[in-house]
Parts: sequence; C-alpha cells; structure tokens
Amino acid sequence: MTQETALLSTSPVTGEMNAPVRKVFVKTYGCQMNVYDSDRMSDALSRDGYVATDVLEEADFVLLNTCHIREKAAEKVYSELGRLRELKKEKAREGREMLIGVAGCVAQAEGNEILRRAPAVDLVIGPQTYHRLPEALKRARTGERIVETEYAIEDKFDYLPAPDKAKTRSRGVTAFLTVQEGCDKFCTFCVVPYTRGAEVSRPVAQIIAEAEKLVEAGVREITLLGQNVNAWHGVGADEREWGLGDLLRRLGEVEGVARLRYTTSHPRDMDDSLIEAHRSMAKLMPYLHLPVQSGSDRILKAMNRRHTAAEYLALVERIRTAQPDLALSGDFIVGFPGETEADFEDTLRLVEAVNYAQAFSFKYSTRPGTPGAELKDQVPEDVKAKRLERLQALLTKQQRGFAEACVGREIDVLLEKPGRLPGQLVGRSPWLQPVNVDAKASQIGDIIKVRITKAGPNSLFAEMIEEPRARSLTA
Ligand code: SAH
Ligand code: SF4
Ligand code: F3S
Repeated sequence: MTQETALLSTSPVTGEMNAPVRKVFVKTYGCQMNVYDSDRMSDALSRDGYVATDVLEEADFVLLNTCHIREKAAEKVYSELGRLRELKKEKAREGREMLIGVAGCVAQAEGNEILRRAPAVDLVIGPQTYHRLPEALKRARTGERIVETEYAIEDKFDYLPAPDKAKTRSRGVTAFLTVQEGCDKFCTFCVVPYTRGAEVSRPVAQIIAEAEKLVEAGVREITLLGQNVNAWHGVGADEREWGLGDLLRRLGEVEGVARLRYTTSHPRDMDDSLIEAHRSMAKLMPYLHLPVQSGSDRILKAMNRRHTAAEYLALVERIRTAQPDLALSGDFIVGFPGETEADFEDTLRLVEAVNYAQAFSFKYSTRPGTPGAELKDQVPEDVKAKRLERLQALLTKQQRGFAEACVGREIDVLLEKPGRLPGQLVGRSPWLQPVNVDAKASQIGDIIKVRITKAGPNSLFAEMIEEPRARSLTA
C-alpha cells in the first residue's frame, strides 16, 4: 500500500473512498483545564474527520494550547512557533500543507498580536470559543488568517460531543471534568480573570451527564476542575442552591464513580458544606490544593487575596479536624512587589506551620495589564531567585517527610497504567502520589490494597496485600 492510500479511509457502509484523513497534533501547556480543553478540541475536530497524532511531522494541523500565567510560559509559545515555521516551510517544499493554530490563554490575551509576531500562524482561538474551531479551521484552509477571541454567547459545552467510549478509555481510568471556569477574584498578579473571563458554573444536570458518560467509558476517578472550583454553585434537583459540597455528594451517588477530587480552590470559598464532605465522604480523596501565595498579611493584602495568614491557618485547622488524614498542597509566589525579607520570612513561617505534602512555587512574573505590573518597588531578580531557592528547600523537605511517613502504611491504590518495568503498574495513592506495584495489566482500573515499602524522590513503591477473599478462594 502506498503512503497515499494508507491515509485514505474507506466508508464501511458504501465502500467508497472518503476524503483523506487529516491529522491533528495538539500540544498542551499550562493547567489541567487546558488539558481538558485540548481533549474537547480534539473531540470537536474528530467530527470533521481529524484524527489525533503524536507525531508532529505527520500533522496537517498543529494546535498549541497555551498558557499566559507567567512570562516564561508565554515566551515558550513563541519559540515553539519559530520552530514550527521551519517545519511548515519544509513541508511546503514537499507540497504538503500544515496549518498552525494557537489556542488557550496566550491566544485570548494577545489575539492579533500573535499573527503579527508569528507569521506562520493561521488561526488564533480563545478558550471561550473553541467549539467554533472546526468552522474556523475550514475558513483557515482557504487562506484566511483567523482570530476568534470574542466571548461567545452560546455555551461552548453545549456544542461539544460527549467523550465517546472508545476514545476515553484510551485516556485512562482518571479524567478531568470542568465544572466552573473563569475568575472574579482579580488577584493583582494574575492574568486569569482577563484570559478566562468571569466566573461561570456549569449546571448540575450537564455535569452529572458528563460524569455518567465518563464512567461508562471506564473512568473511575474524576477530578472536578475550575479556576476557583469551590466557587461553583448551581441549583440542585431539589431546587435548592447547591455549592461544591452538594455537587460532590451527588457525584458520589453516580454508580461506578470510585474517587473524587477537585482543584483549584480559593481559601475564601471553602464553606462548611464542602468541609463536611471531607469529613463524611469516603470517595472524596483526602487531598486539597489550597494556594496561599504568601504568609505575609501585608503582601496578601497587596495581592488582593482577601484573607490573612491567620485566617488561612485557622481554615487549614478546621479542614484537618474534619479529615485528619488530609494532605495539603499549595502555590506560592516569592518576590511580589514590595516583599521584604521580613515578609518572606512570614511565608517560611506559614509553610512551617502548615507542613505541605506537595507544593508549587514561583518567582513573581510581571504580567502586562494586571495591577501588579504598575506597582513600584519591584523585587530584583537575584533576590527573587534566592528566596525561591530557600522556600523550595523547605517545601522539598516537607514533601520528602510526607512521602517517608507513608512507608509501612497500608493504603488503597487505583491502578492506572503500565509501569516502567515489565509486570509493574503505576497507580495513585489517595494523596495523588504515583505508586509502583507488581500487578497484572488486566488489573488497570482496580483499586487494590497495598503496603508502601519505599519512598523514592517522585513516587512510592509498594507490595500488594492479598485480599482475604482471594486467599480463601485459592486455599
Ligand atoms: N486560581 C488559583 C490559581 C491559578 S494560577 C488560585 O487562586 O490559587 C496558578 C498559580 O500560578 C497561582 O496559584 C500562583 O501561585 C501562580 N501565579 C499566577 N500568576 C503569577 C505571576 N504573575 N507570577 C508568578 N506566579 C503566578
Ligand atoms: Fe488568579 Fe486569583 Fe483568580 Fe486564582 S483567584 S485565578 S490567582 S485571580
Ligand atoms: Fe495558564 Fe490559562 Fe491555565 S493562563 S494556568 S492555561 S487558565
């Protein structure tokens, strides 16, 4: 078979040749919501006959789903576009077309500017309009350069096909589900309110329907996503106003859902009902990503986080009382404008007081258009770098301590995928750590009991504990 015919598909009904199969290569940057959005964009394109490829050179359409959160994230996109321009030229010399699209938060923030800076780009599409991607791509194929960054009036979720069975299975036993998008908090360092727009919650029925589809496709663990996921609210079947705690309880009743998680939460939106869910729901994993950014009240105020360090610590205490086994994760920014050594030490003190199982920490990055960019008293890069190093040393020590404290414990692990060694699978602990364990491939999707035997730098090692029932069957 020639290369040409291999790329043609035959209709199973008529036996006639259809249009050649087009291939799309999607590269995702940034947060989990971008991962979710990339899947939805691939779904939307699959209706137009595109199949996903992970071989860049094969692609007829390359889509970068981008992140604008820090300067480095945005710059990465432009350097990637430079490389793609060369590939596009090379393909053109061979008489093959390759279109290039930019989606996500850089697309929303920069719009037309991308077409100016990156002449190889054919299509720019913001996160609120990605259901229009197939249409935009058709127009781009005619040679038009497209920018779609208006906030759409129609609901993008309405237009997207539900995850289909065969495809989602290949995506694994865990899945993301966006329940809330956008942000009204306007922290002074952050671009998200500008790139993702105002806070919007998806309706309960839509979320339940999507969860049921995921379960049907073999998913066992669902992570609810939102830029401020715990600001989610909706009207329940009982006509009451629901918060995230109520939604989690309802999702816990969906048959086949074994584990639930949610991310990212804002401390201001942790209400009693959500904390209660951590106390009473076995399916809600004892893990919480609760960014604080700084431990200094002065800096928290300048960041417009609208809580103090003491309030955050008191909140952590309340959640831990409800769920003593809770692992906490956080985000930190060092070197926000005006941050002094004393402010930074307050952050170290807060970290000491909380003891994080996991954390993400960053040097403050000036984002054009945010209030933080206007502030005088920017902290020099070398000071930021030194503070980041000190903070990360402490956080790494806490992370190690947490992993080591797991050794000897008997825990449940959801088996996700083949491991690096034959006969090994990788699963997830309740606290989101990868766990390596000897198990059969047929056990992917099972939740098994293991004993943790060793803690590596990024994962745990474990041995399976035989189920008492299995033992009696073989005895
Ligand atoms: N909605 C989440 C955060 C989303 S952005 C929240 O409110 O916590 C993810 C993380 O990126 C933030 O928590 C913050 O730590 C970091 N971040 C955001 N803007 C940044 C900037 N301008 N410079 C450095 N880090 C930033
Ligand atoms: Fe950004 Fe603050 Fe909104 Fe989080 S809460 S997305 S940090 S503005
Ligand atoms: Fe980045 Fe946008 Fe997510 S800026 S972190 S991709 S919301």
